[in-house]
Amino acid sequence: MIIPAQRQRFKEEKMPRRILIFDTTLRDGEQSPGYSMNTREKLEMARQLARLNVDVIEAGFPIASEDDFEAVKLVAETVKGGPVIAGLARAKDIDIDRAWEALKYADRARIHTFIATSDIHIQYKLKSTREEVLEAAIRAVKRARGYCDDVEFSAEDACRSDQDYLCRVVEAAVKAGATTINIPDTVGYITPWEFAERIRDLMNRVSNIDKVVVSAHCHNDLGLAVVNSLAAIREGAGQVECTINGIGERAGNASLEEIVMGLKTRRDLFDCETGIRTEELYRTSKLLQTITGISVQPNKAIVGANAFAHEAGIHQHGVLAHKLTYEIMTPESVGVPQSTLVLGKHSGRHAFKKRLEELGIELADDDLNKAFVRFKALADKKKEVFDEDLLAIIEEEVLMAGEIYVLEHLQFTSGTGMIPTATVRLRKQDEILQESGWGDGPVDAAYRAIDMMTKIPGRLKDYGIRSVTAGKDALGEVVVSVEFDGQTVVGRGTSTDVIEASVKAYLNAINKAVGRRTKPRITTERV
Ligand code: KIV
Ligand code: ZN
Repeated sequence: MIIPAQRQRFKEEKMPRRILIFDTTLRDGEQSPGYSMNTREKLEMARQLARLNVDVIEAGFPIASEDDFEAVKLVAETVKGGPVIAGLARAKDIDIDRAWEALKYADRARIHTFIATSDIHIQYKLKSTREEVLEAAIRAVKRARGYCDDVEFSAEDACRSDQDYLCRVVEAAVKAGATTINIPDTVGYITPWEFAERIRDLMNRVSNIDKVVVSAHCHNDLGLAVVNSLAAIREGAGQVECTINGIGERAGNASLEEIVMGLKTRRDLFDCETGIRTEELYRTSKLLQTITGISVQPNKAIVGANAFAHEAGIHQHGVLAHKLTYEIMTPESVGVPQSTLVLGKHSGRHAFKKRLEELGIELADDDLNKAFVRFKALADKKKEVFDEDLLAIIEEEVLMAGEIYVLEHLQFTSGTGMIPTATVRLRKQDEILQESGWGDGPVDAAYRAIDMMTKIPGRLKDYGIRSVTAGKDALGEVVVSVEFDGQTVVGRGTSTDVIEASVKAYLNAINKAVGRRTKPRITTERV
């Protein structure tokens, strides 16, 4: 871990400064509407974040719900030998104790405790006073230090707090034992110039600031989260808090991939480096899109479909003449898969396993066998199997493993002037269920048949379909949003047959709804 005292030495030795990447996709990202993930999905995401080599994974807010607690515990137990695992806690004994309960299994754990320091929050939300908040912060940090050596303190709404008071709270938190001090722009209000000024002032005025890592946590309400984070880094912040694809409360958090590639591409300006394996960025972004069913916009920097597409003739001509004319970083550097033919129907298990390994995927023997069977079935239908196809198969196998309702058989009839009908057979553990239905079209007919068997009819709120690669025989990916008892769940399914993909997506949503507990959840907005 790098502390500011080391900054000077790096300067003398002309070494780039190492910036810690604190990923909060599973906490600040996940708590925003539409992005909720179940425990299995959080674990998959955490594993990928470890592959990406983030320094800290904030795995959740253990007091918020049973599910959050279980997810943090599972990540702490499973993701070993890499990132620090952090859990959020309000500046309350009960939160801190609960956070430690979940985190104690981690190789390296961090308790992240916070309390608001702006007068607006102190007066209206906490109904407290500055002095009481100061005391609560000191008490919380000391309690957390009683459990572990790595304690982060956040002054919520720091950027709208009185700067003198903020300096006092920060100084007291450091004295109480905090090892990281986080300065959040909770409401995404500050501009880069003001944020730089605030960080500079803290660095100059807080007497013990050199004992800790200073961190920035920026929200994107004015579209400034990434540039504000970079401004803080220039003033000496040693950690930034961010999320994959910039997901998060309201307009989101600072996007991890944009900060990391900003630092890498403009190393001449920042003279900083991160430990991120940038070739994993695209895959991490895709995994999150797959899990949540929410795609990034095509022009999203770094990971959007058009991020490296040169459409204008003059640009294409330039890039062909020399890449540097219009390309400031390469698609390879962020891991955008090249649509090259990788495998075909004659490829064996060995070649399949090897290609997965090249893509950074290691599967247990059982999972590998299942994935290989799916690959063979796909290769029979589709002449060419691309990396994107492999990733789609693997994500589906891994994320859908252990589902309660599994599709065994699907048959449908449809056509102009016909009444569309579908017969669906499902396996529910040891039981076989079968029903037929009719509807507006084959998808509607199949969904009705499924509703009759599962008896938990959902309301289809959204349905989207796209092809995973180019070509008429491409895998189709269907993403559905389904509401069950007022809760919206996203489901995903892939197949070369779009009706089958639609059925798989609907079943995926049902399985998630069945597996989801409905315990109440508190969020930082409600504390
Ligand atoms: O935005 C914020 O202030 C937070 C804190 C809990 C760090 O997410
Ligand atoms: Zn936040």
